[in-house]
Amino acid sequence: MSNEPIDQSGVWRYREFLPFLEDISAIVTLREGNTPLLSGPKAADYAGVDAIAFKHQGFNPTGSFKDNGMTCGAAQARRLGMQRVACVSTGNTSASMAAYASAGGLQPVIFLPHGNISFGKLAQALEYGAKTVQIDANFDQILAIIRRIADRLGMYLLNSINPFRIEGQKSIMVEMMDQRDWKSPDWVVLPGGNLGNASAFGKALREMLQLGLIDRLPRLAVVQAEGSAPFYEMVQTGAAALTPVGHPETLATAIKIGDPVSWPKALNEIQATDGVVEKVTEQEIADAKAIIGQCGIGCEPASAATLAGIRKLRGSGVIRRDADIVAVLTGNVLKDPEYIHRYHTGVLEAPSSGTIRSIWGNPPVLVSCDENAITAVLKG
Ligand code: F0G
Repeated sequence: MSNEPIDQSGVWRYREFLPFLEDISAIVTLREGNTPLLSGPKAADYAGVDAIAFKHQGFNPTGSFKDNGMTCGAAQARRLGMQRVACVSTGNTSASMAAYASAGGLQPVIFLPHGNISFGKLAQALEYGAKTVQIDANFDQILAIIRRIADRLGMYLLNSINPFRIEGQKSIMVEMMDQRDWKSPDWVVLPGGNLGNASAFGKALREMLQLGLIDRLPRLAVVQAEGSAPFYEMVQTGAAALTPVGHPETLATAIKIGDPVSWPKALNEIQATDGVVEKVTEQEIADAKAIIGQCGIGCEPASAATLAGIRKLRGSGVIRRDADIVAVLTGNVLKDPEYIHRYHTGVLEAPSSGTIRSIWGNPPVLVSCDENAITAVLKG
């Protein structure tokens, strides 16, 4: 009940779980975390299960789960005395990093795949004062270069390979268990891109089990978009190593990643939790997203891969109808308004599969400023 900023943070409130910082004055907090578990009965019906609870990370200060990790990454940068921090991003990491760096007096530099991030996220980076560099290449290609030159340019890299960010993202699972009175669900479902979150969730769950805070591990279900699903392919085929997808495609730009750096950690967590990896189509993501919207909850495209994945895993019998399921919605509905408008007006185009059918479309109605015309629309 303390009013101290670090006690109000949904990350630092659990600081005994993230024991890397001796001096709490390095902490930069925007009161991240504290995100709700929301029930979505309509989404559960859609997926063919009894209930789904959404842990909505879109309620974070910059609208995504990245804030949980970034508060720790920024603290570590300050602890090291770094002045410049950098990241390569599909959008959310950059928005979060820009905010935490600026709030903590650090200089944010971000590198983005030109034309492949949503406007909402780009706008946040600009507004929070980041030096924003757009490059005509995909996320994986840019990350490979920046990993090589970051040190030389005196930039502390805050991508999710940074272990301190992973520590912070553990708090999403700890807070979820706290909200459930330390009762494990059967499943925790999340979208997979660079696979930092899957790594963080698995680590948190194992640590809570070791500490005796929970008595069993939930199973992790990681869901990828069909055109960017190297982790799915690897787990499905039982390959020893991941084969990158050279030209990843998906309208869920947040998870448009063909060479996820954290796959070894994520694989370990899938194995430790008896987890599964699924993939879903562009149409399935778009429809699931509209259904989450109809619950009054809403999320960005990547997050909706969770509901699409649950539906598919229910269909194949992997998830039982009466399973206790938490789906993690990773980003806020307003992150990508252009996608929403296109879907509801029937003009959303997928990279290779063509136009997405606007099955749950809800287009706006244009009407003249006239009493009879307005009345006619409402009667119709
Ligand atoms: N959902 C959203 C909304 C994301 O922004 C991301 C990743 C993911 C899911 C996937 O999480 O990488 O831990 O598997 N976005 C990164 C970024 C890559 O740059 O913002 P992951």
